[in-house]
Amino acid sequence: MCTHLEVKELRVNVGTVEELTPGTLKRVALDGFPPLVVGNAEGRLFALLDECSHGESSLAEGHLEGCVIVCALHAGSFDVLTGNATKRPAKRPQPRYDIEIENDMVFVLLDVDSSETSSPRSELEESPAKFA
Ligand code: FES
Repeated sequence: MCTHLEVKELRVNVGTVEELTPGTLKRVALDGFPPLVVGNAEGRLFALLDECSHGESSLAEGHLEGCVIVCALHAGSFDVLTGNATKRPAKRPQPRYDIEIENDMVFVLLDVDSSETSSPRSELEESPAKFA
């Protein structure tokens, strides 16, 4: 008998709490998913899609102002806790992901439907995220 399990969400280790000190922005490359930016805004850990919703810029190359991430290319900004755009030219919200912390390890919960491809789920489960 064959059992088919449908996986809707993946939990990916993106580092330790100790690594993500306040003010940190870190780009995380994942096989089969768009890159993420994870960071610490005034003690609050967050994860967003790294590709700015306004253009083709990495938000990890920007900077934090409180709980707002400012894009390096045109200075548009987003609330890191909601993903909402807070300053033009950014208008569309930035996709965000839930975070879980377990034993000092930081995990990002990814919706499998947001993957770029039909993706190598087993690779994600077996190898840690790569920090770029
Ligand atoms: S590319 Fe980010 S604000 Fe324009």
